Amino acid sequence: MPKQQVLPAFATPIWSCVWEDSEELNAGLKRMILERAPEEALTHRSNVGGWHSEQDLLRWQDPSVPPLVERIKAGINGVTQATKGMEEAAAGGFFMVAWANLLRQGGYNQVHDHNKYAWSGVYYVDTGDETPGDELDGRIEFIDPRVGIGWPKVPGDPFKQRTRFKPEAGRMLMFPGWLRHYVHPYKGEAPRISIAFNVAFNDPKEADSLQP
Ligand SMILES: [Fe+2]
Repeated sequence: MPKQQVLPAFATPIWSCVWEDSEELNAGLKRMILERAPEEALTHRSNVGGWHSEQDLLRWQDPSVPPLVERIKAGINGVTQATKGMEEAAAGGFFMVAWANLLRQGGYNQVHDHNKYAWSGVYYVDTGDETPGDELDGRIEFIDPRVGIGWPKVPGDPFKQRTRFKPEAGRMLMFPGWLRHYVHPYKGEAPRISIAFNVAFNDPKEADSLQP
């Protein structure tokens, strides 16, 4: 048998990290977001049964915003380094927008992408109430982007993995903007709060006109 090799061609990077010592920052972000969130559920963009702020969160005048910006910048450097373009990230030539997401009981996000942006991400501020034993409750799930995958039978089902993450306060995820994803219905009573963001390396004026 000659030497064998398997190239994991077209693998999709999903970057993840958890910031320790996030309680104070997350409490500040939660207060900031709850002050602005309306009582009733509003549907806007991909969310159903929740609230989605305007994409100007990074310009909100609040002491919690600068440390959040630093975390997003660190995330951009992290994901860029992991995908072998560290020098470009360190040069700082990127543009970011962010918005608050608040899911109330029964709320979810439909399948969508942010494909005008290089990277998209989410930072979990408050995961709300957990529903024990429910493996889907409020989970973000990514959809395998490979066309036609999942139809033929393959021994071991190597192509039928499901990639989803359980929300965790202080965790940040970043993924290519073209990677479609959705959020399963959230069952808890307390609101579930996260901050989503997009990153572009285009000229800011051009990126500013892009819609997720
Ligand atoms: Fe999204």
